[in-house]
Amino acid sequence: MKEELKVKKIKDGTVIDHIKGGMGRKVLDILDIGGNFPETSALLMNVPSKRIGKKDIVKIENKTLKKDEVDEIALIAPNATWNVIKDYKVVKKSRIELPDLIEGILKCPNPKCISNADEPVKSKFKVEEREPVKLRCNYCERIIDLKDVL
Ligand code: CTP
Ligand code: ZN
Repeated sequence: MKEELKVKKIKDGTVIDHIKGGMGRKVLDILDIGGNFPETSALLMNVPSKRIGKKDIVKIENKTLKKDEVDEIALIAPNATWNVIKDYKVVKKSRIELPDLIEGILKCPNPKCISNADEPVKSKFKVEEREPVKLRCNYCERIIDLKDVL
């Protein structure tokens, strides 16, 4: 379509599509992409989408995502689409789903929690509710909102 927003395709890298409008910036934060990041990247905001109304899109050249990064993105952009691009083609497409258990990437906000002790154990949270996200610490059982841990 002529009217469609045209943004350059990338040769190799990652495109995260169908991010809920407004959350693209947070995805960049999670991936630590700022002015010092050496690769070309793009953030498209408020792109009209049939599926979700308004969406953000993040494109990053020459980057693959690690599992921890995907899990963290799932917290703020559940159901986003993760596209792996090789030689201009989408070679892998998957939906970023929030796992039932989130390990190692968030810190329990309870200072007395054993996961924050001197010899810390890997943090573990059960996903209790998805919309909005509510987590339960596996160790101290505290119920946690996303804003408490991000
Ligand atoms: N894309 C890109 N560079 C490429 C290939 C794709 O930047 N070389 C981007 C597209 O612009 C789109 C996303 O990657 O934002 C997914 O591409 P594609 O699967 O071709 O688009 P759709 O069919 O619209 O995806 P979906 O079915 O997931 O909505
Ligand atoms: Zn805890």
